[in-house]
Amino acid sequence: MAVTIKVNGTTHSIDVDGDTPLLWVLRDVLGMTGTKFGCGMALCGACTVHVDGAPTRSCVTPIDGIGTSAITTIEAVGATAAGARIQKAWLDREVVQCGYCQSGQIMSATALLTANPRPTDSDIDDAMSGNICRCGTYVRIRDAIKQAAQS
Ligand code: FES
Ligand code: FES
Repeated sequence: MAVTIKVNGTTHSIDVDGDTPLLWVLRDVLGMTGTKFGCGMALCGACTVHVDGAPTRSCVTPIDGIGTSAITTIEAVGATAAGARIQKAWLDREVVQCGYCQSGQIMSATALLTANPRPTDSDIDDAMSGNICRCGTYVRIRDAIKQAAQS
């Protein structure tokens, strides 16, 4: 079916089955490979993007449910005020280890900071609990979010 989606401010017309997950469209059709495939079951957060600003698991989001919503991915989140602060803090705190989970982590952290500019530890834990990091970078992630909130 013909689908029109808006990703990072650009409108794309594509031809895919309606039940195709957004993650597959981003990576395989549009070539945006910054968003990662982890579990494919909404359990790890590696595939997190923003749909109208809300952190969303793109691996379980069918493309025919997107409609006119605006999608933002890791490729463009740095152009937002909160995304830029989060990415700077990520670099300052040297958060990344292998990196595989980190685009999803940054998308969830940016959504948190946008909705809640002064998150408490509890707020951070709640917002980030769905993003798994096998390298265990959780302490640095929390520090980076706090730095971004204070910057
Ligand atoms: S790949 Fe989507 S939540 Fe794991
Ligand atoms: S940095 Fe390696 S899985 Fe998170």
